[in-house]
Amino acid sequence: LFAAIAGIGDYSSGVYLQSVTTLCLSSRAAYANPSPTLAMTAKANALKASGADVISFAAGEPDFATPEPICQAAHRAIDEGFTKYCPTAGIKELREAIAQKLHDQNGIPCSPDQVVVSCGAKHSLYNSAQMLISPGDEVLLIAPYWMTYYDQIQLAGGVPVVARAEAADHFIPNIDALKEKISPRTRAIFLNTPCNPTGAVYGRKTLEEIASLALRHDLWIVCDEIYEKLVYGQTHISIASLGPEVAERTVTVGGCSKSFAMTGWRIGYAAAPQPVAKAMSSFQDSVTSNPTSFAQKGALEAFKMPLDTVEKMRQEFETRRDLMRAEFLKVEGLDVPSPGGAFYFLVCVQPYLNDKVSSDHALAEVLLDEAGVATVPGTVFDAPGYLRVSYTASRDNIKRGVARIADVLAKQII
Ligand SMILES: Cc1ncc(COP(=O)(O)O)c(C=O)c1O
Repeated sequence: LFAAIAGIGDYSSGVYLQSVTTLCLSSRAAYANPSPTLAMTAKANALKASGADVISFAAGEPDFATPEPICQAAHRAIDEGFTKYCPTAGIKELREAIAQKLHDQNGIPCSPDQVVVSCGAKHSLYNSAQMLISPGDEVLLIAPYWMTYYDQIQLAGGVPVVARAEAADHFIPNIDALKEKISPRTRAIFLNTPCNPTGAVYGRKTLEEIASLALRHDLWIVCDEIYEKLVYGQTHISIASLGPEVAERTVTVGGCSKSFAMTGWRIGYAAAPQPVAKAMSSFQDSVTSNPTSFAQKGALEAFKMPLDTVEKMRQEFETRRDLMRAEFLKVEGLDVPSPGGAFYFLVCVQPYLNDKVSSDHALAEVLLDEAGVATVPGTVFDAPGYLRVSYTASRDNIKRGVARIADVLAKQII
């Protein structure tokens, strides 16, 4: 039946029917989970399309248009016929621009042959997991975390081992909590700063402590810095900038989606020690070949553009963050700390859960159905009792959306 649905084989023939009972999915398929964030966004969009007045705080993408010069560069590339296969790891100019940016803006010494451009940071992370993790390897993750890491570690045969960062510490990991989770089988640690979903931005001391832990226990570090340009009153620090011995064991992942409002273009990158970059490029050869040629020309423009376009978007996000926090603070019983980066609040809704609406999942459903506001349940990020709320909506929608949430919560409180 599965094969028939999937359209495999000639299912009108008897031969097909004899073999169908032996077909089953691979063991990896169990780890291929649909993204709950995308599912919630899709549900909100479907409701909107049916005419409902829905405000989405679920999206993980900027609501701004991709800046015009980036679009023009891609148009030009198409007009000039730049529409064929190109080098798997990305076009030379783009790898050079990324290496230069990592050097100038992040303090990471990097040559173009250490850069692999992929179809989004998610793809770069997948390549990293596949090339660094062997079956049975343990990989440290800091909760709350973006669930993709968990899935990708499992898809590589690894075992995610979770250390918890506490709300009381503003979701900055405690180094002793990390140490406790290290075993002789620990192979890598995945970091995300600024963090989705908490907005936490790791400071120098935390990064130094993690780096020395990695050096002591001979761990790979995979650091996802996709939100690096979206920091508020804080400085983003790349762990690979802490010294050559740290850079030698670090894969820095970044991309265009969040900083340049280019989510649909699917351009991300990994910067890694040369043997790792070489392995990732060869792996990509077998899986996707190059990321879209003309999208890379757009990305090249993005990395070369003056930073003021990104700065304008950052400033608007900061204003929205402050506005949303001010609106949330009007709601009785909500404790909403001010996150230092990305574009999310992780809001504790535990006081509002009761026998009828007993989980963050149930509450997110209630908010969508009764308030017309889409959020993402914290359980998705290993943060039960929380909701992730993004401020990628307009200021007006932020005010209206939080007011609607407040109304529903007022009815909900025990
Ligand atoms: C922490 C984090 N890393 C990576 C990504 C994916 O980025 P890209 O669109 O470049 O694949 C996301 C998207 O939500 C994210 O939140």
